[in-house]
Amino acid sequence: MLKVDKLNVSIKMNKGLYPVLEDVSFSVARGDTLGIVGESGCGKSMTAMALMGLLRKNIKIVSGQINFDGMDLAAFSQKQYEQIRGKRLSMIFQDSMSSLNPLMKAGKQIGEAYQIHFGLSGDALDSKILESLNSVGFTNPEETRSKYPHQLSGGQRQRVMIAMAIAGNPELLIADEPTTALDVTSQNKILTLIKNIQAASALAIIIISHDITVISQTCSHVCVMYSGWIVEHGKTKDIISNPKHPYAEALIAAIPNAKAKDKELGVIKGNVPSLLQRPKEGCVFAERCKYRMPECSGEIGNFVLKDGRTVRCILYRHKDGGKEQ
Ligand SMILES: Nc1ncnc2c1ncn2[C@@H]1O[C@H](COP(=O)(O)OP(=O)(O)O)[C@@H](O)[C@H]1O
Ligand SMILES: [Mg+2]
Repeated sequence: MLKVDKLNVSIKMNKGLYPVLEDVSFSVARGDTLGIVGESGCGKSMTAMALMGLLRKNIKIVSGQINFDGMDLAAFSQKQYEQIRGKRLSMIFQDSMSSLNPLMKAGKQIGEAYQIHFGLSGDALDSKILESLNSVGFTNPEETRSKYPHQLSGGQRQRVMIAMAIAGNPELLIADEPTTALDVTSQNKILTLIKNIQAASALAIIIISHDITVISQTCSHVCVMYSGWIVEHGKTKDIISNPKHPYAEALIAAIPNAKAKDKELGVIKGNVPSLLQRPKEGCVFAERCKYRMPECSGEIGNFVLKDGRTVRCILYRHKDGGKEQ
């Protein structure tokens, strides 16, 4: 349903043009849940904003396609986006406090979504609000509807956001760090809710998280991102049990209690480079990679392995059935 093909996004800064996403490619099928995982600053939110048509003025799609149900969103105008955003494509953000209107009761905010999408009013709207609150796990919807955002907990606010995001029956829902601000119990509740919503519909979901355990609990497929690249893309269970890209390997070995084969990988040394420090040529991970070879400073393509996953690393040129894409 969604196929992102060699998406390149750059930021204009200090009169220069700095790449922030380079040849990002992935796809999500109807009813699938795709995770995007990687350390902070690697381009996850930028990917989400590009899909939603919400990039700031100084940030541009330079090339590539975002195919959504036969349309190329990368070429969409803001006017065209307004026809589908919040309707066919929907997004929830990490920070529910600043995404909700602090001066409006929860029920009214959800109600507005149903007014906009279905023109509901009166009793029909009232019962829809209660049904909606109930469907996102509020056992006392009458009470919840008359609360202001600050009277709700972080997890409750996030559930209100989810109710609003799915009000228009979207085909694709993007959740950017939906549980990052929450304690473990609320986090699990939200993840269960997302799984239940998905099971009850053909909704495709993209969950963005810096936490691979969140992705492993919810997503059939995953993209591992590093510094604007998708370094590995495939089935979550394949990648978690047997990561191929050196960054994916390090990220998974860093999971607490993981049976790390190589203890040294437990901590990934160094940091994600800033936009200004990104290498202009070669592999973006080379500087931190323990397998680095001279070829890593050349052009690095995507290699499709025998098992179907894609790895952007020169090691897979002749390994595991790797064929350049
Ligand atoms: N508005 C902006 N102006 C300049 N640089 C930005 C802006 N937003 C994000 N960046 C930079 O783009 C890169 C990717 O950021 P982001 O997509 O937010 O990462 P993530 O969501 O994975 O933490 C980072 O280097 C970040 O500093
Ligand atoms: Mg982010």
